[in-house]
Amino acid sequence: MEVIIRPDADAAAETALEFVRRLYEKKADPVLGLATGKTPLKLYARLRASGLDFSGTHFFNLDELVGLPDGDPKSFRRFLRDNLLDGLGIQEDRVRLLRGDAPDLEREASDYESAIKEAGGIDLQILGLGRNGHIGFNEPGSSLGSRTRPKTLDRETLADYGPGTPRFSITMGIGTILEARLLLMIATGEGKAEAVRRIAEGPLTSETPGSALQLHPRAHLVVDEAAASRLARADYWRWVWDNKWRVGQ
Ligand code: GLP
Repeated sequence: MEVIIRPDADAAAETALEFVRRLYEKKADPVLGLATGKTPLKLYARLRASGLDFSGTHFFNLDELVGLPDGDPKSFRRFLRDNLLDGLGIQEDRVRLLRGDAPDLEREASDYESAIKEAGGIDLQILGLGRNGHIGFNEPGSSLGSRTRPKTLDRETLADYGPGTPRFSITMGIGTILEARLLLMIATGEGKAEAVRRIAEGPLTSETPGSALQLHPRAHLVVDEAAASRLARADYWRWVWDNKWRVGQ
């Protein structure tokens, strides 16, 4: 895993955008995996303004809350439509977002895995990080080999979302996420500092699902100074960034 420490959340988003741009330089019709949450919003705003041609892009997303119909303001599909996809010039038949209101969630999960395979696999998966170290809705204890499936949310996660949030989700598994060719995790703010320390410097363990990034050959963790504040080896990562070749080189 490469940790990239940027001065603030805007600089982190700029660096994340640079990864996406590099991908489009190599491939006009990539497969992107999207994440919901506050963290990627600055990247999404930049993608909308980037001038990149998204008409050939296949889109998937990480996770969704169970039971919410299309258009529900709490649904992740609504969030991704409002904050990224609408106005991006996409082709609808290339967008496959998880349906938390599917009548058979196990079936939805296996159909989703098949759709990812049919699209040729995910080229770049954007990831956020839960305060408890989760990725997608793979809560602590999730198998590091897990596939897309329904999951019960952790109480801490539910508290972060506030009252009225469904207790269940459907999420790509950790094994599914690890098959993406490039992982791009963004974590910003002091509230993520402990989770960042655990995934970057702690042991590989299902108790910290994000530590699975340690297994991936091309995993990048872009953080701001606040989220990097508990890293023992922050100076090393700054040194690497200042001295190595740049993204994609
Ligand atoms: C949520 C989602 C994740 C998201 C993470 C961080 O629970 N399941 O997909 O990346 O937590 O969210 P935020 O960026 O709002 O802190």
